Amino acid sequence: MKKNFYITTPIYYPSGRYHIGTAYTEILTDSLKRYHKMHGEDTFMLTGTDEHGQKIQDKAKEEGLSPKEYVDLQAQKAKELWKLMKIDYDKYIRTTDEYHEKTVQWIFERFLKQGDIYLGEYEGWYCKPCESYWTESQLVDGKCPDCNRAVKLMKEEAYFFNMKKYTDKLLDYYEKHPDFIKPDYRKTEMINNFIKPGLEDLCVTRTSFDWGIKVLSNPKHVVYVWLDALTNYITALGYGQEDTSLFEKYWPANIHIVGKDIARFHLIYWPIFLMALDLPLPEHIYVHNFIMMKDGKMSKSKGNTIYPEQLIERYGLDATKYYLLREMPNNQDEIFTPEDFVSRYNSDLCNDLGNLLNRTISMINKYFDGIIPNYKGIVNQVDKDLEESVKVSVSNNKEFIDKFEFSNAIQSIWNLVSRTNKYIDEVEPWVLSKDNKIEELSSAMNHLASSLKVIAILIRPFMLETSNKILKQLGLNNNVSFEDLNNIYSFDNNKVIEKGEPIFLRLDTETEIEYIKELMNNH
Ligand code: MSP
Repeated sequence: MKKNFYITTPIYYPSGRYHIGTAYTEILTDSLKRYHKMHGEDTFMLTGTDEHGQKIQDKAKEEGLSPKEYVDLQAQKAKELWKLMKIDYDKYIRTTDEYHEKTVQWIFERFLKQGDIYLGEYEGWYCKPCESYWTESQLVDGKCPDCNRAVKLMKEEAYFFNMKKYTDKLLDYYEKHPDFIKPDYRKTEMINNFIKPGLEDLCVTRTSFDWGIKVLSNPKHVVYVWLDALTNYITALGYGQEDTSLFEKYWPANIHIVGKDIARFHLIYWPIFLMALDLPLPEHIYVHNFIMMKDGKMSKSKGNTIYPEQLIERYGLDATKYYLLREMPNNQDEIFTPEDFVSRYNSDLCNDLGNLLNRTISMINKYFDGIIPNYKGIVNQVDKDLEESVKVSVSNNKEFIDKFEFSNAIQSIWNLVSRTNKYIDEVEPWVLSKDNKIEELSSAMNHLASSLKVIAILIRPFMLETSNKILKQLGLNNNVSFEDLNNIYSFDNNKVIEKGEPIFLRLDTETEIEYIKELMNNH
């Protein structure tokens, strides 16, 4: 039976246009889903929008729309962007969907009955843009620790979730499941910054606005965004509803992908909610870092924002995804610069990968009339070295993905690209041809085509179009999976195309750096 694989993105606030940072979460999730699908797993990817809360209500008002009209429009725009980015999600949840709202109401009443939720009064420093209350000690220079904006002291009747009750159970869970949180240092952060100092009970309702899910037993309260938002991962599968088949099939999730700013909610509150519902916890939660600009966070007012569709329009989807996934390190933020973008494009994509394909296609045409020669075994030492490199790249790629080190996983593919380029220089096919060493020459062409086949398979989860182009130029079928990596050297008299088109056109560095800078300033 196929292994199930359930993966989720956060649900995004539909409060504006999504920049490349937001798109990063989606790209990473989509790539991982495709990777597992190509391994023959039965995959399910969830994404969506987090549509309640004061900020959304305010935004709608600014635009002269009702909250519902506003979120309908924004959700539509989000779906259009994901379509442009060819995101292969299986379900799109909106927290305003009726099934979600009803299930949240039911969960709330259940928590109330169980004594997990109680009525109290909340006083704290409230950051409106983040919709977060902070304690005095959490503020940084008297400002919101997340966004550095002004906070206001506020008080209101509110329901609380008794987090303290679950603290020990959570710590115990962390200890018994060392791979639950990835990377590991995020767990240490949670323990040291939030759990050890004493977990605060979480305020789960508001009375100060009404764009939210009403509490059934006390409708002047609306469920505050995090209880509403986090439960999307199970309501989307039918939990607490009539048809629970998806839930039974896919829960617990294999992985939630989240950015570091929402780590606390996913690593502490979400597991606790699940414990209170007596449900199993997801296998992994992966926390990624942020895409920053040289002068800090992306923001419209600073004029340093880049939107994914701008890069895609000019440089293509694959190049955009390649850059973002390749550049994001595991242990710190990535700084986007036009210089790096253009340099990655020209050196990694155009020079290294593009030229490798081009040289290979033209040599197979020149020496063998376009037919990829059959495997002759290892003819000389360089063939052996290359075969070894192929094995190492394939296994490193898998190991890094299993360890959630995505940038390193891509690096391992490009190690093979470089190694294969070096192979050409080492075997010097033009000399073999001149000396009429046909056996060695045909082995070289077979090895080059094989390496490119491997590369096309390994990049496929995140560079589908490029993978298709490579396979097509090699005269191969694009119906490939990771299983084909077990049989890379055999070809069936495949004929490469007569004249290979470059898959990435060289960019003029100066012009493109200026172009991207212009994009950043032009909003
Ligand atoms: N609605 C909540 C999530 C609820 S999930 C149950 C939310 N939405 S968000 O729209 O603000 O953010 C969505 C995702 O985008 C988060 O994972 C966030 O970390 C990510 N990013 C926002 N800016 C980012 C960067 N600059 N870089 C990388 N990811 C960033 O939070």
